[in-house]
Amino acid sequence: MCGITGYIGNEEASPILIQTLKKLEYRGYDSAGIAVMRNGKIFVRKMKGRINSLEETLLENPLNGQSGIGHTRWATHGEPSDANSHPHTDSGGNIAIVHNGIIENYVKLKQSLQSRGVVFQSDTDTEVIVHIINYFYRSGEGALLQAVMETLKLLNGSYALAVVCSDYPDRIIAVRKDSPLIAGCGAAGSFIASDVPALLEYTRDVYFLNNGEIAVLYEDHIELRGNDGEVILRETARIDWDAGSAEKNNFPHFMLKEIFEQPKAMENALLPRLKKSALNNPVVDFDEIKLDESWAAARRIVIAACGTAYNAAVIGKYAFEHFARIPVAVDLASEYRYRNPIFDKRDIFIVISQSGETADTLAAARLMKQNGARVIAVTNAPGSTLSREADVVVYTYAGPEIAVASTKAFTSQMMCVYLLALELGRFRGHIADEPYKKYITALSAIPAQARRILDKKEIIQRFAARQYNKTKMFFMGRQFDYPVSMESALKLKEISYTHSEAFAAGELKHGPIALIDDGTLVIAFATQKELFEKMISNIREVSSRGASSLVITCDRVDSFNTITDEIFTLPKTEDCFSPLLSVIPAQLFSYYCAVQRGNDPDKPRNLAKSVTVE
Ligand code: F6R
Repeated sequence: MCGITGYIGNEEASPILIQTLKKLEYRGYDSAGIAVMRNGKIFVRKMKGRINSLEETLLENPLNGQSGIGHTRWATHGEPSDANSHPHTDSGGNIAIVHNGIIENYVKLKQSLQSRGVVFQSDTDTEVIVHIINYFYRSGEGALLQAVMETLKLLNGSYALAVVCSDYPDRIIAVRKDSPLIAGCGAAGSFIASDVPALLEYTRDVYFLNNGEIAVLYEDHIELRGNDGEVILRETARIDWDAGSAEKNNFPHFMLKEIFEQPKAMENALLPRLKKSALNNPVVDFDEIKLDESWAAARRIVIAACGTAYNAAVIGKYAFEHFARIPVAVDLASEYRYRNPIFDKRDIFIVISQSGETADTLAAARLMKQNGARVIAVTNAPGSTLSREADVVVYTYAGPEIAVASTKAFTSQMMCVYLLALELGRFRGHIADEPYKKYITALSAIPAQARRILDKKEIIQRFAARQYNKTKMFFMGRQFDYPVSMESALKLKEISYTHSEAFAAGELKHGPIALIDDGTLVIAFATQKELFEKMISNIREVSSRGASSLVITCDRVDSFNTITDEIFTLPKTEDCFSPLLSVIPAQLFSYYCAVQRGNDPDKPRNLAKSVTVE
């Protein structure tokens, strides 16, 4: 939902703003712009389209200056257009701002400004902010910071804002509420950005701004202030992510790179939690979570999440119920927050979010906390709002995920919930020693098995080249294969724009079979051995109605040979862990379909990586 960036220092600002914006392009990419200050004047260049187009314009016609702000947009209010692109300026062009978020009361504010004679240049909600800052700045005591703070009092909604003013060429003012923002100081100067990858090249020491906090950036230092203007003294946090993790390296797209990073991402989630017992046996042990009486007495687990993280939550339901014999309620966070859910102090509350910034998931976590719950967050983003608000944080350690479509975050989220379920199952006395050992051995083998799947990527690539033109693609499976079907259908629709759906294979006859014809592709997951025969019948049912099909399985390949067009064989694992492997060919399939269709898999239309607004 838009990325913002800012720089003030001893180098040319434009190339730095463009570089940092490129790292934020996953947040939105329908328009881009920068404002640069030079000799007491603000110069703006902004346009509809990708950051590359802006960069080309700047190469032809540079903007020089050593401080500035930048924006990459994902339109919410006002169509993508040059005029609606950020930065926005006041009528005199003395103040410029970039904004990520939504100003909910902008209509009223706009009317009030218009009645005072302000003429608007755009249809955005953002533009009201710059006019209000200007209003307070001109009519008040003259201090820019004061004008910004007065303006914030009038705004309802969410914002990460950066403000520059031609009267204050030595500083940039930045502030956030419910939209992410970090500030960091490096050798070249001071920076702000919506997310960590944008700054890795320039600094590793950052402030994660809290809600309401203001950062005033100077060339050589950053001043943090509270929402009343009081100075805050705080140490920076050190980011130890590898800078290469936010680069494509030799992959054509971030998505493919991240699919290939999954063995490592799963290892990162697994290894810190595998310890040795007193008898030298491997045991799961989360340093973050101490299993105590409350876990023994728990009656239910409640999990809320959105999108892919929700699909990981459904896997969590199956895993907790399987291993720990505890009922699990899974909710879409957007539903949970509005449906007056029932709270019981004995329940365990978990939210899952890659970014830790998803508005609905944050709202669900806050609702849980308001009702006295202790919230456990499973997230990939250190310093994110969720990681700071949750009572317990379980990091997935997948490293930065740049592609909009989530892949390695999903497998590492699953790894974390499996481990939690195993630990809880043992703690509650539902797993005996032998099966426990067997499960740990199976989980430990998963990263290497995932590498073997990736080595066979050409099978999927060729299959996608034959099938990508199908107008309907369905995914089906039973038990643990059902949430994998859901995730696969989501992935495919996001980046290939193909109409895809998932259904529990047992539901086929209850409706979906009516959709099957010779223009349909069905991808069937058959990894649950007890349900093989059922899946064989389901595949026959779709094949006999003309559908093409791919079976993703780990066994009994002969049984599928005659009834399907293609078989992808997975390495053998415990049935319950198959999602960690079976989703990989499905991710590859979505990726190759998107590429075949000429889409950019990293930047799918209408989507942004982090949904920080409702
Ligand atoms: C799917 C995808 C989205 C996110 C969802 C939640 O590929 O990326 O569905 O999974 O927006 O995001 P997080 O996990 O950041 O809360």
